[in-house]
Amino acid sequence: MPELILPTARLGPSYAETVHEFIAEGRGGPDDRSLLGDLLREAGRPDGTEQWIERVLDFERTLITDPPAHFVPATTYWWTDGDTHLGRINLRHHLNEDLSDIGGHIGYDIRPTARRQGHATAMLAAVLPHAAALGIDKALVTCDVENTGSRKVIEANGGVLEDQRGDKLRYWVATAP
Ligand SMILES: CC(C)(COP(=O)(O)OP(=O)(O)OC[C@H]1O[C@@H](n2cnc3c(N)ncnc32)[C@H](O)[C@@H]1OP(=O)(O)O)[C@@H](O)C(=O)NCCC(=O)NCCS
Repeated sequence: MPELILPTARLGPSYAETVHEFIAEGRGGPDDRSLLGDLLREAGRPDGTEQWIERVLDFERTLITDPPAHFVPATTYWWTDGDTHLGRINLRHHLNEDLSDIGGHIGYDIRPTARRQGHATAMLAAVLPHAAALGIDKALVTCDVENTGSRKVIEANGGVLEDQRGDKLRYWVATAP
């Protein structure tokens, strides 16, 4: 059964495969403003070394303890099955102005070869108790209007649409039943 875990060097080789898949679909370039883009700029692309995964773990630790300016503390979890990395989900500990408007509490990606198998739906469900533990009763989760997959993931987790801002839909998801 897949489970949500904190990033670990044990899954370094599988995470490197995931990242290669994201790069192959065009992520990680200079225009990628996502957290994955930041991670690749900080840690570099996977190079088969243990140092790379250590830089990844450092990046994720820093997001919790000493986030960059304009970032709030955030925890990244990995969605895994045994030694296989399937996806990543980032839980922001609270909202700032930008996150309240567009970014929301939670962002996620499933590796391309693991999509359309229900993983994102299950991964979002699995992170909600962690949000509740941080005192977040309702999590703001947003997605692009065009992102049918992500809309379905949010709605399957009980997301209630508040509004559309620009090309983003803003949903509130209760973190406890
Ligand atoms: C969006 C994303 C997270 C979906 O992950 P996933 O694991 O494939 O999602 P699920 O398998 O849980 O699918 C949930 C539903 O969406 C549907 N779906 C998934 N991808 C879809 C797509 N590209 N187009 C249409 N429907 C899609 C599934 O068929 C399923 O529908 P169902 O409930 O009617 O059966 C994944 O495609 C991804 O990582 N994309 C790139 C990053 C991204 O967009 N992140 C979200 C930012 S808000």
